[in-house]
Amino acid sequence: MSTAARPRVLETIGEVREVVAEERAAGRRVSLTPTLGALHDGHLVHLSRAAELVDTRIVSIFVNPLQFGPNEDLAKYPRTLDADLDRLGQLGVPFVFAPSAAEMYPDGPPSIRVHAGRIGELYEGRSRPGHFDGVLTVVAKLLLIVGPDVVTFGQKDAQQLFLVRRMIDDLNIPVRLEAIEIVREEDGLALSSRNRYLEVKERRAARTLSLALEAAASSADQGIDAVVAAAQGTLMGEPLVELDYLKIVDPETFLPTDDGYRGPALVLVAAKVGGTRLIDNERISLAG
Ligand code: PAF
Repeated sequence: MSTAARPRVLETIGEVREVVAEERAAGRRVSLTPTLGALHDGHLVHLSRAAELVDTRIVSIFVNPLQFGPNEDLAKYPRTLDADLDRLGQLGVPFVFAPSAAEMYPDGPPSIRVHAGRIGELYEGRSRPGHFDGVLTVVAKLLLIVGPDVVTFGQKDAQQLFLVRRMIDDLNIPVRLEAIEIVREEDGLALSSRNRYLEVKERRAARTLSLALEAAASSADQGIDAVVAAAQGTLMGEPLVELDYLKIVDPETFLPTDDGYRGPALVLVAAKVGGTRLIDNERISLAG
């Protein structure tokens, strides 16, 4: 049982605005770390970085129904508010914004949304139609509610990070976006709230995603075909992994790289391991 003071939980938009106004009046800079809750050590890295940049950190915990498709895990998504508050208390985070769906969407699903555009329909967006419109809509709302100086997003959700950056630029939202590197378990598995769904055998199989990315990175000097072959070969060696996509994209545009492309690239992978959908990515430098 933790003895650190837990954060104050703000449930309404009005409370958040009041708190942020007080912080600003006292000359304090504010950050926002948006989450779905079920916090893990990866989230803690966001908060350490935020502590270097601002005075007052706010974490939002909201399982946003807009970004889950009809056959996805909205109902069973892990909700661990008590444990989350303990962890955040230990880090000295003073405020958590944990609104209800009715507070965020008082008239039900909103008719006006942020549209993620063409890139929002590729990769994750192809497998999860409407997902990124749901993400960007809630992120825009959170940024307008909190008005932070800094917002943190993880590199693990690389496409989400790209689209949030683009939204911030396209809509001139006055916030600094701080990208946080992927945090991995010792065997390479990228931390994710969904890892807790994995059974023992699946957990072992899940490390194949990061192994495939390592194989891709080691083949980067031989060109794109070698990268794809190395990653695919690794993934196909694990029967519990059902590959959804493996893509090499240009990090500037998030479009698939052409055959002749040389330079920095991102390898994206998504796969189901048992019933759990996992994603991961790695930066490589394509030569060859
Ligand atoms: O990455 C997440 O946890 C979610 O997509 C986010 C950014 C909190 C929006 O609901």
